Amino acid sequence: MKEQEKRFPEDYYNIDKEGMYIYIRDFPLYLREAYLNSSWIQLKINPRNIVIAGMGGSGISGEILKDYLKSNRIINIHGYHINDVTKEDLVVIISYSGNTEEAISCFKEAVNKAGEVIVITSNGRLSRLAKEYRVKVVEVKQGLQPRAALPFLFIPLLVIAERAGLISNIEEELMNAIDILSKRDLKSNAIALSEKLLDKKVVIYGTPLMRSVAYRWKTQLNENAKHAAFFHFLPEANHNELEAFNSMKDMVLIILSSEREEHRIRKRAELTRKHASKYLQVIGLHSKDPELLGILSMIQLGDYVSYYLALRKEIDPSPVEIIESFKKELGPYV
Ligand code: F6R
Repeated sequence: MKEQEKRFPEDYYNIDKEGMYIYIRDFPLYLREAYLNSSWIQLKINPRNIVIAGMGGSGISGEILKDYLKSNRIINIHGYHINDVTKEDLVVIISYSGNTEEAISCFKEAVNKAGEVIVITSNGRLSRLAKEYRVKVVEVKQGLQPRAALPFLFIPLLVIAERAGLISNIEEELMNAIDILSKRDLKSNAIALSEKLLDKKVVIYGTPLMRSVAYRWKTQLNENAKHAAFFHFLPEANHNELEAFNSMKDMVLIILSSEREEHRIRKRAELTRKHASKYLQVIGLHSKDPELLGILSMIQLGDYVSYYLALRKEIDPSPVEIIESFKKELGPYV
């Protein structure tokens, strides 16, 4: 087919060899499935803090949970050590592959220090270690890219938080969100947005509720579209990056905000947009949804945007060969 005859996106879907599209499109279905599969989860202790240790596409689930619950009792670790955890704390080790060395290291520390440990994984060394130490495992279906497994990683965390008393009656809000999301068409907006990002470096800001969602946008643009994307959050960005807009003329700034934020935050988002617009292209995406729906809907939109940007760049969105070979280069972890 000649280049000029190609229509977007119809003639580009064959680039997606491993079917990443299905995982993005069926995000609401997987959320429901994950919730139904998580009902058995019970805790042994009534924890003071929930410490969640994981990296990349797995670890981000804990950040999303923290933003949604607005709780300092959720502590996210993206590294090798859980440090000052005590017997009053629950540690959740989350690694889709089960072979991420930072998560394995945290597991080994947690079994000695924490009051309770739960592992969320699909396989790998963590799954074997969990059996050896008789630690509860939330088994996630195999064969996905970790970042595509978000529903299966995030929902068990939400259920764990409910069992720990950090939130109540999640079922109603979650099911309402899933119902609305499954009827929502985000694709046309995503297709249009992806065009605006082509040939531009991208910065994504999130207001507090959208902080980890902005980070998810950044990581999905990196991993699916192999695209330069960076992230910051409000109100913090108002105390530094404001001064740099003048040097960001070749970038696009996306501001993710929510009607559910307090008044001063909404005002900051508007003002940030006004200031940045003097120097660079700004795209404001403001959610009017209830909190959980807003978070989930914005995640799905960002996933689609990264997907369509990958197709525009004629990049297969699934493989992350450089991340894989980097892990190999590090050598075996003992
Ligand atoms: C790959 C991806 C990565 C991994 C990360 C940690 O799709 O999203 O960010 O999530 O390298 O690996 P896991 O999730 O297996 O612990």
